[in-house]
Amino acid sequence: MISADKVANTASVYGAFLKTIKPLALKEMQLCEAEFEIGSGENEVFNEDSNSLIKRIKGDILYLDPPYNNRQYGANYHILNTIALYDDFVPKGKTGRRTYNSSMYSKKKYVNDTLDDLIKNANFRYIFLSYNDDGLMSGDDVRDIMSKYGEYKLVKKEYRRFISQNMHRSSTFEHLHILEKKYLI
Ligand SMILES: C[S@@+](CC[C@H](N)C(=O)[O-])C[C@H]1O[C@@H](n2cnc3c(N)ncnc32)[C@H](O)[C@@H]1O
Repeated sequence: MISADKVANTASVYGAFLKTIKPLALKEMQLCEAEFEIGSGENEVFNEDSNSLIKRIKGDILYLDPPYNNRQYGANYHILNTIALYDDFVPKGKTGRRTYNSSMYSKKKYVNDTLDDLIKNANFRYIFLSYNDDGLMSGDDVRDIMSKYGEYKLVKKEYRRFISQNMHRSSTFEHLHILEKKYLI
């Protein structure tokens, strides 16, 4: 996936393709060995909806990094999903996307309730959530949700943002919302 991404004829995401071939996309794709660090711990990896999974796992620390905006990852990275799945799919629409799971974290109407459900069901003592200051949920929304379940703290850090033609600001604030959960299930 990393090798394919290096020569992809896109503007960094795969929501649409470019009409002309950019010079990078003319380079030969080189398949390189993935580097893994083999640790001594035992790890489990899951690939499923966070709000279902949360009901079956527990631990000390939960780190959450959900989407901030209404751009769906399934739409914007669908080619990488196809490489991972290695299946046949029926391309849809003008840009040839595959069908994808829509995340409730990328929908203004559902995101607050979805986060509330996740935090409520989290059997973890400490919860950390990264979110930036112009996401679908405001900082106050997140604070109100998290502080229902324990002791809440916020840490902010200024961060240089990716500048595109539509984005004028050159920096943003990355928020780390921290919860010590008092009411474990
Ligand atoms: C901001 S990215 C996280 C990036 C990750 N921390 C990293 O460094 O690669 C958000 C991720 O959440 C995934 N996602 C969105 N909704 C989800 C859900 N309901 N359950 C599980 N994952 C979800 C998206 O597909 C995307 O991969």
